[in-house]
Amino acid sequence: MGLTGLHGIDQIMSGSKQRLCSLVDLPEGTSRGISVDTDCGHEDQLLVHKHSCVRAYRNSCPHTGAPLDWVPDQFLNLAGDLIQCATHDALFRIEDGICIAGPCAGKVLSPLSVEVSDEQIFLLLD
Ligand code: FES
Repeated sequence: MGLTGLHGIDQIMSGSKQRLCSLVDLPEGTSRGISVDTDCGHEDQLLVHKHSCVRAYRNSCPHTGAPLDWVPDQFLNLAGDLIQCATHDALFRIEDGICIAGPCAGKVLSPLSVEVSDEQIFLLLD
């Protein structure tokens, strides 16, 4: 099952965290887009699983606010080591979301806190 568009279907609120998906749905070296229902409405996010660590950011480029993916669930460059914006090819480090090349160099993707527990990925809520 793809992750994009899961809002209202596979997200389970549990206290101060929200289940996003199973870890098996985000294999090592891959990225996924996910839509999350929040108190403020619908929000598009991206998940990246790299070096046994899951990172999450809002799916919004700091250059123009455009979505980052070129095709659904494709957020990484061809080498798979950087997040790449589809619109003007800005490149962001996976580990901290800092743009290292492109029109928004030095700017940062908006990070989200996630936790992996019992093979499930959770968004930690404020
Ligand atoms: S919109 Fe992302 S680099 Fe311009």
